Amino acid sequence: MIKFLDLHKINNRFRDAFQASFSKSLDDAHFILGQNVTAFENEFAAYCGTEHCVGTANGLDALTLILKGYVELGKLQKGDKVIVPANTFIATILSVLHAELVPVLVEPDADTYNISIHTDKSIFIGAKAIIMVHLYGQLADAEYFKKIAKDYNCLLIEDAAQAHGAVANSQIPNSKSQELIVKSQKPKANKAGNLSDAAAFSFYPTKNLGALGDGGAVTTSDSELVEVIKLLRNYGSIEKYTNKIIGFNSRLDDMQAAFLRIKLETLDKDNERRRDIAKAYLRGITNSKIKLPFYDGSKNHVFYAFVIEVDDRALFTAFLDKNQIEWLIHYPIPPHQQEALQGFSYNNLPLTEKIHKRIISLPMSPVMTEQDIQTVIDVLNTY
Ligand SMILES: Cc1ncc(COP(=O)(O)O)c(C=O)c1O
Repeated sequence: MIKFLDLHKINNRFRDAFQASFSKSLDDAHFILGQNVTAFENEFAAYCGTEHCVGTANGLDALTLILKGYVELGKLQKGDKVIVPANTFIATILSVLHAELVPVLVEPDADTYNISIHTDKSIFIGAKAIIMVHLYGQLADAEYFKKIAKDYNCLLIEDAAQAHGAVANSQIPNSKSQELIVKSQKPKANKAGNLSDAAAFSFYPTKNLGALGDGGAVTTSDSELVEVIKLLRNYGSIEKYTNKIIGFNSRLDDMQAAFLRIKLETLDKDNERRRDIAKAYLRGITNSKIKLPFYDGSKNHVFYAFVIEVDDRALFTAFLDKNQIEWLIHYPIPPHQQEALQGFSYNNLPLTEKIHKRIISLPMSPVMTEQDIQTVIDVLNTY
């Protein structure tokens, strides 16, 4: 059986370090917002190239607290429109609803599955925020949406739950501005987490940077927003038993922060391995019945998922089952067709609906062996 994602094998690589870290935490007994949270926040902000990182309980809360934070700051008002890709995990849309804002769903690009740069611009009129989801680990076109956000006076937010460590291709938007950059002023790498006003990450165990439980974070260089999110995640309080605003309990667990610090060191290497596996699949799978994903060969993709399309999915998944290859669907039902999201009005979303019927995710993880990869390729070529 080729596993879709062998979490045991992934985490077993760090067993000794995890155990040492657990023992230390047990001795320190500072379980809530302890030194591991602060250290991880500093390390992850430095990794993403932002001034700040605030740990949260999970990725959904990271998104929700960004939006609620902007509401607290008066930059968003209840009922404001937020542009969200229709083709995403439901959490992106839930965060908008939890913040009492109105999601406006837009169709993806048929090749990258990300929010399309060909979206009719009239949809941005009156919108107050845009959430770019870097779906499956591939960066959305941040340069384009930064411009849109500026032109339409919108906040730009990243849902980077699937894209830890992805680096944008164009560090410099165009050749004219390139001339203006003095050699010594090297621009910071444009990376998931620093491509917008604020970004949300999930450290759900299956993510490229996954904890041993739930976890999330916001990265941003907006100090005002950071102050509010630090209040919101902790009952509206910075000073114990003094509550400034109506907050939540959504803190990153200190033990999870300790585990994440250990795994962060291997993230770039793991992402490189994922890209190598993707390249092997793209070279090796030559079956015309299978649509392979678009990939430009750069570091702008970290292959959280390797997603293919087929015409008859039921037939194909039965074939994979017979050949002992695990698969998943990210995601089988689009959010706007979920029972939970009935009662809202949406634009027509035929492309989103079509994609959801055709996609399948193949095994992808940094611990796959060469033999596993070759088996997947060989089996797919006989379909
Ligand atoms: C695109 C996207 N957004 C948001 C989330 C929510 O993250 P979490 O499960 O940590 O709440 C996830 C992951 O599950 C995700 O894949």
